[in-house]
Amino acid sequence: MDKKILVTGGAGYVGSHTVLQLLLGGFKVVVVDNLDNSSETAISRVAVLAGEFGRNLTFHKLDLRDKAALDRVFTSSSFNAVIHFAGLKAVGESVQKPLLYYNNNLIGTITLLEVMAAHGCKELVFSSSATVYGWPKKVPCTEDFPLCGMNPYGRTKFFIEEICRDMYRSDPEWKIILLRYFNPVGAHPSGFIGEDPSGIPNNLMPFVQQVAVGRRPTLTVYGNDYSTKDGTGVRDYIHVVDLSDGHIAAVRKLFEDSNIGCEVYNLGTGKGTSVLEMVTAFEKASGKKIPLVMAGRRGGDAEIVYASTEKAERELNWKAKFGIEEMCRDQWNWANRNPWGYGSPDDQN
Ligand code: NAD
Ligand code: UFG
Repeated sequence: MDKKILVTGGAGYVGSHTVLQLLLGGFKVVVVDNLDNSSETAISRVAVLAGEFGRNLTFHKLDLRDKAALDRVFTSSSFNAVIHFAGLKAVGESVQKPLLYYNNNLIGTITLLEVMAAHGCKELVFSSSATVYGWPKKVPCTEDFPLCGMNPYGRTKFFIEEICRDMYRSDPEWKIILLRYFNPVGAHPSGFIGEDPSGIPNNLMPFVQQVAVGRRPTLTVYGNDYSTKDGTGVRDYIHVVDLSDGHIAAVRKLFEDSNIGCEVYNLGTGKGTSVLEMVTAFEKASGKKIPLVMAGRRGGDAEIVYASTEKAERELNWKAKFGIEEMCRDQWNWANRNPWGYGSPDDQN
């Protein structure tokens, strides 16, 4: 196999784990990333973890909106497919700075699609999100549920999905898979790569991890009055390595199914876990106590969200293998070995 994949945002959390799985699967990989929310160290660690396959990895530091630079990458290599992770993802920040999000996520994607079309590369896997289900009327969420955008970040995912559907309608040569991720957590079992958000983490597990290593004193639990088993919000947490393998399955589907068109798949486990259950599992894995402060609900949060995994199982032949225990074990292993992520105490806030 010498298929070559362009990975946008490949230095980031999900991207770096997926690049590793691609390399181990025998693919050649070119990463483009502006390192806005990531470190080049992740790329060099992926190359080491990939062993002899590490030589099949190339990195270009560039912003997707720099069309000339992106065009040069496509001129110097010919790609069999693109996996598009690059984007900004902090919900709260998107409410404060909507134009930043619309500019980065929408213009970045449109520029990418234009350059792909100009070079005749029409195979795409895109990182969408369960955020497009909003507060679902029932669970599990199936791919045919009505879609919405709850905040500017969520709307960029919804709009990009619609843009992709329009691209296919306008030109049936496009083959596009939209992957709706549920809640990616954990890290590579080596503890060598993992999630390293800049600033104060927005998401549950990066916050829990920073409490465990002493960087923050307490975890604030947003809401304990939901109609759930213990009153806290329920989500579908998925190990990042399982999620990455879902991308390999999607890329293979693009190559094998000539009639794929523009198709959407949930990537989750199908199981719902509450905030308190997740904290307890992490305490068990780490041996650390996570002090809690109970607070009111966070605006825009849904009560219970988890995936129907049937379509991905049936059509991508992919199913998550890891449970909460492995997610917390690997998250702790990464945190314990890298309490300051890829950086040092001096460059944190
Ligand atoms: P991340 O921030 O770790 O990775 C995104 C990468 O894209 C970063 O390395 C960043 O530097 C890069 N990037 C951003 N804008 C860019 C631009 N204009 N040009 C070039 N590079 C750019 O995020 P992640 O958790 O790995 O998420 C990857 C994708 O999956 C994102 O699109 C995100 O919205 C989506 N997603 C993530 C989650 C989650 O909880 N992690 C859930 C659902 C969907
Ligand atoms: N939570 C806390 N305290 C925190 C952080 C989160 O109690 O400090 C709770 C939330 O209220 C929620 C649960 O933990 O009940 C999970 O919250 P996250 O922020 O980790 O995840 P969300 O499901 O809210 O959203 C995430 C991403 C979205 C993405 C969505 C689905 O932030 O961008 O998963 O993929 F759309």
